[in-house]
Amino acid sequence: MADEPLVLGIETSCDETGVGIVRGTTLLADAVASSVNDHARYGGVVPEIASRAHLEAMIPTIRRALDTAGVKATDLDGIAVTAGPGLAGALLVGVSAAKAYAWALDKPLYGVNHLASHICVDQLEHGRLPEPTMALLVSGGHSSLLLSTDITSDVRPLGATIDDAAGEAFDKVARVLGLGFPGGPVVDRMAREGDGSAIAFPRGLSSASDPAYDFSFSGLKTAVARWVEARRRAGEEVPVADVAASFQEAVTDVLTRKAVRACKDSGVDHLMIGGGVAANSRLREMAQQRCDKAGIQLRVPRPGLCTDNGAMVAALGSEMVWRGRSASAFDLSADSSMPVTEVHVPGAPDGHGDVHAHAHEALRS
Ligand code: KG4
Ligand code: ZN
Repeated sequence: MADEPLVLGIETSCDETGVGIVRGTTLLADAVASSVNDHARYGGVVPEIASRAHLEAMIPTIRRALDTAGVKATDLDGIAVTAGPGLAGALLVGVSAAKAYAWALDKPLYGVNHLASHICVDQLEHGRLPEPTMALLVSGGHSSLLLSTDITSDVRPLGATIDDAAGEAFDKVARVLGLGFPGGPVVDRMAREGDGSAIAFPRGLSSASDPAYDFSFSGLKTAVARWVEARRRAGEEVPVADVAASFQEAVTDVLTRKAVRACKDSGVDHLMIGGGVAANSRLREMAQQRCDKAGIQLRVPRPGLCTDNGAMVAALGSEMVWRGRSASAFDLSADSSMPVTEVHVPGAPDGHGDVHAHAHEALRS
């Protein structure tokens, strides 16, 4: 529909410079420039390298997104940007760029939450999210169960990891197995040739007295490292595919069991899975089987939309405009530990569009 909001979204919370353009719930462009290869030799994301790469990629990526979408910057109804959580310096590059474009174009600015964006991106694939929706968010930085009754204003955390994120566990296990970084995709691939029941790795926080919706992957990671070490010490060959498959089975078993339980306990019959680890083929398969059995509708965006991208930010920004949420003030800052309950950074109660008034106020103060 032509009158649906046309929004550009900018994502720079980690190592992907993402710029997406969305009209309503329709994806028009999803341009991503990744610095992942620059970090590979360090075994993890180096914040300074990520910030520098965002700075260099920002303007070309915005231009590419506008070209692909076939729209002019002046046609936009708003600019959305990830305000947090994420790496402080990396976030700052995106927030500064969004402010500059919003200022120059005289458009409303929406600083939004990275985690809520990971949920909202599903609208681009499966239409508007049912309310309520349960969300299992699993990425390199987060593993949480969230209940959303309105993706622009009400996202409640039910549980989270108490130590490592699921993606972090994939990355660390990949390192132990000598498979490189990032670990998730390569563990996923290796696991297809292995037997997931070959080794009984521990399922963290899974006894009756443990918190029902929290996760723990640190013990599992250590158990895998010890198992591999013992083989190497004994001079035996490590069955890499079986280790990868058994580790992956343990992670996906816990994630899907807790997510389905959260749905049942809350009487919610829609589950969405987002974040980089949602690209995992076994997680998708197991979640589908368990949701079918429990009568829950499963929504998982395609893998390219699960990892960090600008389209997810544009999707949430567009929903903000659609629902008349107030634009952010022009003194918007990046918040590296932004809580998920803060879905967006609201501006003045009168809300919409007076970016310049906010800017002048901010400059005066
Ligand atoms: O959402 P994301 O792109 O960035 C963060 O916000 O963290 O997630 C990246 C994480 C990495 O840890 C990566 O190893 C993991 O997602 N990942 C996967 C797969 N693809 C990416 N984990 C398991 N299986 C995959 N196929
Ligand atoms: Zn993410």
